Amino acid sequence: MTKLIIKNGEIINAFGRKNADISCEDGKITAIGKNLPVPFGTKIIDATGQFIFPGGIDAHTHLEMPFMGTVSADDFYTGTKAAAAGGTTTIVDFIIPNRGQSLLVARDLWMKRAEKAVIDYSFHMALTWAGEQVAKEMKIVLEENSISSFKVFLAYLGSIGVEDRELIQLLSVGKTLGVLITAHCEHGQMIDENQKTLLAKGKTQPKFHAISRPSWLEGEATNRFLTLARSVDLTVGIVHLTCKEAMNAVYRARQNGQKLYVETCPQYLLLDDSVYEKPNFESAAYVMSPPIRPKGHQEYLWNALMTGQIDTIATDHCPFTQEQKKVGKDDFTKIPNGAAGIENRMALLYSEGVAKNRISLERYVHLTSFRAAQLYKLQNKGQIAVNYDADLMILDPAGNSTIQAATHHHNTDRNIFEGFKLKGKITHTIAAGRVLLENGKLQVTRGAGRFLGKRK
Ligand code: URP
Ligand code: ZN
Ligand code: ZN
Repeated sequence: MTKLIIKNGEIINAFGRKNADISCEDGKITAIGKNLPVPFGTKIIDATGQFIFPGGIDAHTHLEMPFMGTVSADDFYTGTKAAAAGGTTTIVDFIIPNRGQSLLVARDLWMKRAEKAVIDYSFHMALTWAGEQVAKEMKIVLEENSISSFKVFLAYLGSIGVEDRELIQLLSVGKTLGVLITAHCEHGQMIDENQKTLLAKGKTQPKFHAISRPSWLEGEATNRFLTLARSVDLTVGIVHLTCKEAMNAVYRARQNGQKLYVETCPQYLLLDDSVYEKPNFESAAYVMSPPIRPKGHQEYLWNALMTGQIDTIATDHCPFTQEQKKVGKDDFTKIPNGAAGIENRMALLYSEGVAKNRISLERYVHLTSFRAAQLYKLQNKGQIAVNYDADLMILDPAGNSTIQAATHHHNTDRNIFEGFKLKGKITHTIAAGRVLLENGKLQVTRGAGRFLGKRK
């Protein structure tokens, strides 16, 4: 494999920064320092004036996911290619068994789909039902595949969501196995009621999706999930947290000494619910769960982020085209939930976070890679250090870019961040020593990504 050296850049880690060169060989970082030797045939990247970060880890994606009667529009090839275009070098996707389906059957399906990935990947396992078989299979995927994080959905009842009785069982299995359980927190039953009431009144447009799932229903479910986790003394995580009420539940739990992790996503920091007023069904592009919140919640989340109360930023990348969304033209409950973001996360958080002086460069690394590597046991990821994987993102702080669906690599026709003008430009993405992005040129190899757990 080619030798690579990155010269003259500033290395940013979660706990410090320094000016040094980085040598890479066989996919690993082999040396960091000044005046490193440059053997014949070494590829040299000059990073003068640029920051070198650990490659992004997006720990919440849904590629090729069967959902609401369709399949998310990016598969593991197009989705990971878009990730690489945006500085992300590792993803953690969700295996989602159908209710009643074996976890092992779902695992095999997802493993097969993921063989197309161009960057490294790992999995969380969704728990969509409970029982002896699920408990047994949780242990199997932990032991055979090192899948050590699990997710429950407290919404989507009747499909992939679980009832409280099941949740309690799953939390105790989690405690016995010593694994992490994360949750999508929204009060499923109340949402179902709200949806029925709204539809009965003829309120069918996309904006009623957001109205049917207000922030306090997320606050309630977050509080309930944390309360039940406290009862079995299990450390848990809240994924895609969006609002004040949920953040307040987190603050209370932490004040009580409870250990927990919090993830949010760029859309909940940067967009407000005025997006649901867009005409001509354009608002359907923003139909996701939880929904984009009214003004005020965003600053509350930024404050939590700046004070260290949020651990990770992921995307919840789950794109659907407008054609796919059209199935809900006359009924918002049928619009497939989700949007794209895998390509934009790293650039957005640099521009809106670092360049606007809301977070430091080190905290940026913490949020975009370091913490996810720790939580999801991604060995040799999330740091620029000798013997770590040569996963790097180089960003020119003097550059800039504009987000546009016309030029993005997501396999969908809308971008929820359309028109965002960003400070900073990602010039290089290097994944396991392979240069995938170089000054605007993207070159990826289908299937080059590795599964980071055990295959058995
Ligand atoms: O709308 C969303 N978020 N779709 C993906 C599934 C989920 O809830 O994470
Ligand atoms: Zn979710
Ligand atoms: Zn999700």
